[in-house]
Amino acid sequence: MRIHVLGAGAGGGFPQWNCHCRYCAGVRAGAIAARPRTQSSITVSADGERWVLINASPDIRAQIEAFPPLRPGRAVRDTGIAAVLLVDSQIDHATGLLTLREGPRLALYTTAPVQQDLSTGFPVIPMLSHYCGVDWHPIVADGSVFGVSEAPGLSFQAYALSSKAPPYSPHRHDPHPGDNIGLLITDTATGGRLFYAPGLGAFEPHLHAPMAQADVLMVDGTAWRDEDLIDQGAGSKRALEMGHLPQSGPGGMIERLAAFPRARKILIHINNTNPILDDHSRERAILDAAGITVAEDGLDLVL
Ligand code: MLT
Ligand code: MN
Ligand code: ZN
Repeated sequence: MRIHVLGAGAGGGFPQWNCHCRYCAGVRAGAIAARPRTQSSITVSADGERWVLINASPDIRAQIEAFPPLRPGRAVRDTGIAAVLLVDSQIDHATGLLTLREGPRLALYTTAPVQQDLSTGFPVIPMLSHYCGVDWHPIVADGSVFGVSEAPGLSFQAYALSSKAPPYSPHRHDPHPGDNIGLLITDTATGGRLFYAPGLGAFEPHLHAPMAQADVLMVDGTAWRDEDLIDQGAGSKRALEMGHLPQSGPGGMIERLAAFPRARKILIHINNTNPILDDHSRERAILDAAGITVAEDGLDLVL
C-alpha cells in the first residue's frame, strides 16, 4: 500500500490566514525552523493508480497538483481519485468535495451521521447532485471489514471515536457513534496495516486491538497542551473540548502511544498553535526521544 500525506495541518492550515501567533508569524518570516502545512488529508492506494482520498480539504486543488498520481493523465478529463472516504463532517475534511464537482460521479464513503450532516447543516451532498452527483456508500463503525470497490486491494475497518462533531452539527453536544471514526486499512496482498485517526480524542478499550495490529499509527497531532490556543492568545477553546487529545501530560498521546512499541508513530492534523511545528523546539525534542514523527505535507510511506 502506498500512503501519501497531502496535508498534515489541522483546520486553518499553517500558517492560518488570520493568525499572527508565534508559529504562524515565525514560518511566514522564516524566523523559525518550520515548514507550512496544508489542511488534513491523506490518500492511499494498493496499485499506485486508483487512489482513495481520505478527507477532502479546502486545500485539495493545490494538494492534487503537488502529487502527480492524482493529476489527470489518461484522458482530457481525468483524475487519480477513485473514491473519497471521510472520517467526519468537519469543514477541514469535507469542503474539498465542492472542488471535485467538475469530475465524474463521486463515490463517497462515510458513516450515516456524517452523511446526515453533509445533507443538512452543510448540504454538500444535495448540492453536488446538481454537478457530478454522489454515490453514497455507508460505513458502519463497528470494526467490520469493507472494501472500496473503486480501489481494489485494500480492506478497511472503521471504529467509532470519542471526539467531536463539527460546531454546525446537531451532534456537537449530543455525540452519536460514527460522528468521528478511526480507520484500520490493510493491504490485502502485503498485509501492511495503517491505523489512521486524525481526530483521536480518547484512547478507548475497543481501539486497542486495531491499533496493536498496525505497522503505522497516524494519529491526532492537533495540540501539545489542552491550552495551546489559550497559551498563544489565539482563542479560548481547549483541545479536549474540540475532541482532540493533547500530546503532553498524564494520559496524553505520548504516554498512550508507548503502549504500541512495534508501530511507527506519526502525528498528523497539527494545529498552527502547536510548538511541535518548530523543528528546534523543546517539545519536538521530547517527541524525537519518544520515537514519534511529526507529519509534513508530501510524506510517503509504503506498507
Ligand atoms: C477540528 O478538527 O476540530 C476542526 O477541524 C476545527 C475547525 O473546523 O476549524
Ligand atoms: Mn480538523
Ligand atoms: Zn497561528
